[in-house]
Amino acid sequence: KDNSTVSITVVGASGDLAKRRSFLHFSHFTMKVASLRFHFTIFGYARSKMSDAELRNMVSKTLTCRIDQRENCGEKMDQFLERCFFHPGQYDSQENFLELGQKAQRTRGWKSCKPSFYLSIPPNIFIDAVKCASSSASSANGWTRVIVEKPFGRDSESSAALTRSLKQYLDEDQIFRIDHYLGKELVENLSVLRFSNLIFEPLWSRQYIKNVQFIFAEDFGTEGRGGYFDNYGIIRDIMQNHLLQILALFAMETPVSLDAEDIRNEKVKVLRSMRPLRLDDVVTGQYKSHTRGGVKYPAYTDDKTVPNDSLTPTFAAAALFIDNARWDGVPFLMKAGKALHDRRAEIRVQFRHVPGNLYNKNIGTDLDLATNELVIRVQPDEAIYLKINNKVPGLGMRLDRSNLNLLYAARYSKEIPDAYERLLLDAIEGERRLFIRSDELDAAWSLFTPVLKELEEKKIVPEYYPYGSRGPVGSHYLAARYKVRWGDVG
Ligand code: BG6
Repeated sequence: KDNSTVSITVVGASGDLAKRRSFLHFSHFTMKVASLRFHFTIFGYARSKMSDAELRNMVSKTLTCRIDQRENCGEKMDQFLERCFFHPGQYDSQENFLELGQKAQRTRGWKSCKPSFYLSIPPNIFIDAVKCASSSASSANGWTRVIVEKPFGRDSESSAALTRSLKQYLDEDQIFRIDHYLGKELVENLSVLRFSNLIFEPLWSRQYIKNVQFIFAEDFGTEGRGGYFDNYGIIRDIMQNHLLQILALFAMETPVSLDAEDIRNEKVKVLRSMRPLRLDDVVTGQYKSHTRGGVKYPAYTDDKTVPNDSLTPTFAAAALFIDNARWDGVPFLMKAGKALHDRRAEIRVQFRHVPGNLYNKNIGTDLDLATNELVIRVQPDEAIYLKINNKVPGLGMRLDRSNLNLLYAARYSKEIPDAYERLLLDAIEGERRLFIRSDELDAAWSLFTPVLKELEEKKIVPEYYPYGSRGPVGSHYLAARYKVRWGDVG
């Protein structure tokens, strides 16, 4: 056990995000991992006045037990709550941050304290807080770390400006930009699948892969987050970050080693080999209200925080291309939407036809349905399966497609860690592999900024789709233009 204390301050502790998610992540993390390795405290910091007891009371309402922690869960929660403290202060007051630092040092008599700040505040007050936090904490041997979550700007320019401001006060290696999809088990496994199995990597190129699909669907709408969402839309909320990060890990070249910088160098390289998305290659949609089984589901614009005439997309499909030797001409399709018919995140790799397939006549008329497909289901029901052609048992010769199926729930009895558990542990241990470096962020924005501007300047009207449906049909036309069928509807 490391003898110094790690202290994480949730800046913006009384805000909605903190209430809904941050403390829950910290509690799982603390109860499971951190208590074994560090002396660990969590400070809430916000403008509102609150006592430690009030913070604990607020936090306790958000806590749940993970299945693998049910034993003595109440006791563990109490232990977690005992590590939570509150300090009120202004976001632009160095003095208040200094007091926080002193309180953290005094708390329970711990001597040296390694501070990290988890920013749960809107970007417009980010910088003030970082400035004050970093100067007040600089006594801690330069250990100060700042964990930030998107939005990292709205486009290339605003993101670059944010990075410049952050770098006035912090070095790049003190900034931990979270993309929580990188903390998901199956996303982490991508590199294991590719680089430690003989059978995939040789096929991983334009020679054998016809197209790759990255699909994100949610079966609920913006649910009170409309105010935030309307300023960003689904392309910024999901594609430019979560799906693009997965794409980069999927398509990058083999890194020199598993070192964070080697991996991130390869991700940047592949992102920089991509063509910026064109307006022609995007379809946008927005959900409208729909009544099913007597229940009326709202339209996006029914959200009180969304303007009635909003054109913000809640759905988008896009075709992207990587102009390098490995992927030349292979469509990388993305699809992301809210208020669709189900919730899932998956990668689908569609392979080419078998040249001169002896069994074509036994397959039926639709040869497309007979190509191999590898599906990596990130969530829910984590799984990896490969669709293969197989003989239907019997005296005749009929083929059908069956799955070689790795279902995590059947294979592994351990519960899959929450993405944040991994990310928080890595941030505290200084492992940067799963965090976004500033040049990655720049490269990601340059792919989407031109099209986002065009969509907004031309006031492109999204295709409306009913709440709970499969989304706009336009996404099928887009795919068909590249001779692709979405694998999730077959
Ligand atoms: C967030 C988006 O980054 O990811 C949300 O802002 C989205 O709109 C969420 O709902 C999805 O995350 P998960 O882990 O629930 O799939």
